[in-house]
Amino acid sequence: MSMVDNYRFPAFCRDRSSYQQLIKKQCQLLDVPQPEPFAIDTSFELSQKISELISLKQEISFAEFVQQALYAPGLGYYSAGSYKLGAEGDFVTAPEVSTLFGKTLAKSVGQAFEHTKATILELGAGSGRLMCDLLMQLEKENKLPDSYFVLEVSAELRQRQQLLLQEELPHLTSKVVWLDSLPDNFNGVILGNEVIDAIPFELLMKTEQGLAQGFVKQDDEGFSLVFKPTDFSRGWHKNHSELCSQWPEGYLAETSELRSDWLRAILDCLEQGCILLLDYGYEQEELYSPYRPQGTLQCYYRQRKHSTPMALVGLQDITASVNFTRLAEAAKEQGADVLGFTSQSLFLTLSGIEQFVAQEQDSGTITTFSVAQQLQTLLMPTEMGQNIKVLGLSKNFTGILTGFRAL
Ligand SMILES: C[S@@+](CC[C@H](N)C(=O)[O-])C[C@H]1O[C@@H](n2cnc3c(N)ncnc32)[C@H](O)[C@@H]1O
Repeated sequence: MSMVDNYRFPAFCRDRSSYQQLIKKQCQLLDVPQPEPFAIDTSFELSQKISELISLKQEISFAEFVQQALYAPGLGYYSAGSYKLGAEGDFVTAPEVSTLFGKTLAKSVGQAFEHTKATILELGAGSGRLMCDLLMQLEKENKLPDSYFVLEVSAELRQRQQLLLQEELPHLTSKVVWLDSLPDNFNGVILGNEVIDAIPFELLMKTEQGLAQGFVKQDDEGFSLVFKPTDFSRGWHKNHSELCSQWPEGYLAETSELRSDWLRAILDCLEQGCILLLDYGYEQEELYSPYRPQGTLQCYYRQRKHSTPMALVGLQDITASVNFTRLAEAAKEQGADVLGFTSQSLFLTLSGIEQFVAQEQDSGTITTFSVAQQLQTLLMPTEMGQNIKVLGLSKNFTGILTGFRAL
């Protein structure tokens, strides 16, 4: 490395060995296992990239930092090769918990097919588990879609999805098509499970001077977060000035217009049909309740949760709960209808999950105790049941899904 580079980069990313020391220290402080040497190397390259960006601008917004940490080409958490999902990865999602999830969701998809084209577009398909469970169940019910499209940003996950499909449903491989961008004029059902909470967000803090926004800076100790007073007088963000008048000093929260932009792009591509989005989140009033003073930011690394987003750059997932009120508003502004909004627990129960529980128990392939454990994770209010919500949106669609029946 040249003298110029040595001068430009802070000590922690001047060479690999000082970076390894930093990661070691972070792992000790967070009480998490050390990453593999190749993972530290990728994180080192990413830190240099982010460091260069900060050098150019002096600071970057928190959302820009998350964008790089998760999606920097070839280096970010979702773009590079880390294992992410499942027991050996960083976090577990509903399809990974139990096939009961996909089987029950297939009920809603089958119902929707009575009112739209039998085509599915899955956004962010993870390990491919949900895709396989949906296809298996729809095949059993004689409701297979004409095509199953997957839009996946991670090359590593796309490969895992292809392998799983090949292994479990080789006769259906021709139905599944991986896309690089959203299709035009889509007719059918769009699904996204735990995708929106991975879309970058800004951090806000109520200070003595008013509302402040989080920016990322760097010094020789690593990246750090600073809050600066921000002008929230324009656009949708002006709502935050009103919201924050209720917040006590020191209150932390997240906001994301990028998520609304993401939804607008999806709605633009939907000509006719419906969208089901399942994610950790709340309605706005509950999300920004005075009783949630620390916000909802969570980082996931090897099945451990913490809230230090500047650590383990590119090696951990960084998420925040979804503001479903804002998403529904953005959808309505775009001419879409809200089909329903409920908890995962209610949605799965009304969609008839118990019918599949009985089938699993009768099949003898899984113990009654394991089924009970899976159900508990999917349905209990303190687990995914109440923390994950289901938002249904539609365009030119007249159907009703039983999962939203009670509304
Ligand atoms: C938390 S994982 C959930 C995976 C899967 N849906 C599940 O429930 O197991 C997030 C998924 O969304 C993908 N992803 C993240 N951002 C995305 C985007 N902007 N468009 C499409 N997929 C995205 C990730 O690569 C990953 O597959």
